[in-house]
Amino acid sequence: MNIIEKIRSSETMLTPFMSAARLNAVAAVRTRTRGYRGWTGAVNTEYDPLDRATAAQPFGAYRDLHRSGRVHYNPRRSTWILSRHEDVRAALRDTDAVTSTEGVTRMKISGPVLVLTDGAEHARLRKQVQPGFSKGAMAGWQEMTDKLAAELVSDVLANPGCDVVQRLTIPMPMRMIAHILGIPDADVTQFRTWSEAGMHIVDFEPTRHGVVRSVKAVASLAQLQRYFMRQFASGGLKSSDTVLGRLLAHADDGSLTDSQLFYIAMLLLIAGNETTTNLLGGMFDTLARNPDQYELIRANPDLVPMAVEEHLRISTPIQNLYRYTRMDYQVGDVTIPRGSRILLSFAAANRDPLVFADPDEFRADRNPRNHIAFGYGAHMCVGAPLARMEAQAVLRELITRVATIAPAGEPTWSTNTSLRGPTHLPIRLTPS
Ligand code: HEM
Repeated sequence: MNIIEKIRSSETMLTPFMSAARLNAVAAVRTRTRGYRGWTGAVNTEYDPLDRATAAQPFGAYRDLHRSGRVHYNPRRSTWILSRHEDVRAALRDTDAVTSTEGVTRMKISGPVLVLTDGAEHARLRKQVQPGFSKGAMAGWQEMTDKLAAELVSDVLANPGCDVVQRLTIPMPMRMIAHILGIPDADVTQFRTWSEAGMHIVDFEPTRHGVVRSVKAVASLAQLQRYFMRQFASGGLKSSDTVLGRLLAHADDGSLTDSQLFYIAMLLLIAGNETTTNLLGGMFDTLARNPDQYELIRANPDLVPMAVEEHLRISTPIQNLYRYTRMDYQVGDVTIPRGSRILLSFAAANRDPLVFADPDEFRADRNPRNHIAFGYGAHMCVGAPLARMEAQAVLRELITRVATIAPAGEPTWSTNTSLRGPTHLPIRLTPS
């Protein structure tokens, strides 16, 4: 019995979870021995989303993917890759075949949380969270968003050459989330410290520094939990103008417990902070490198919402997420076997030349309505209205008060394999 037959014969005895992992192993072995091209029509690729240099500057790799075929397979990573706009959207729509329930990252993980459920369970959890981001909620938070944007842009103006990541793109979403949760002013600094440390729970690195960071993250989340429970006990964080208060008011049977409310708050913190930071950072970088487009927006302030959509398309703060196949899944002529790991490249899809002309160019007036920076289908981003509101407020503030945006040094980019944005971005603003 050869190794493939051995793995196959053991599959029947395994749980679905384990068999999924085995099928990836079968795929890897088969590919090493025979290559996938002959077997299914997929194109083998060396594009490696885990490679740090590629993660920091991935756009050449996306162009190669688009040029070389429709479905790719990286044998070293046992990962299938979809990069076309049409294919990524179709996979996101087909949650029966291409599921989130085994994880949306490279590491398999499951649990009763919004992002890791499908079908009825997902609909139930989504209904709990959605009312927090209604039009009414957004209208209530507009004033604070504008105030924060004005304050932080003033700070960057007053410090020419400063790192806009530290001055604006990190504090803006963090302070907004503190505001919508109703954290009292006196506690905001402490809340930010715990939150910033706690967020590293999702980006474990197997280095000494990474382990220390993860230990700190766990401790900070425990502090946050104690803080929330103390607040809840004294009636805090649940008033009608806070996000959790809104969720309570809309809960069908008033059944949200304090623990559930805490986990929802953590979900919002994790899902909403670094993503928005990356969008804002990408926006400063793009505007600094495209002064003609900045001029265009300044001359036509009505372009602000459209320009933010184009920033979302071209920067795509979540570059990719994973899914796992529950059954054989057909893409064109290629059959991706049941139990495979698929990387859905939102960022490559947002630069698909079949959909966006000159996709690597930033055009403030492009109006890329069908970009998928917020995902697509059932799991489409709940916090999109908030992220848009923040980016639009900052851009409006810039075009009103700033004549030019110029780079003031070399930026550095995150090397995280999924979330991408500048980690250091020196910028000089000239007042108008
Ligand atoms: C520019 C900023 C943001 C980007 C690019 C972004 C992107 C995304 C994407 C691509 C998904 C889909 C995940 C999937 O298909 O598995 C998603 C889901 C989600 N986002 Fe965002 N997001 C942003 C901001 C926010 C904010 C501000 C919040 C909340 C405060 C938020 C909360 C969520 C939640 C709760 C989900 C899960 C929805 C579900 O599984 O049904 N996001 N986001």
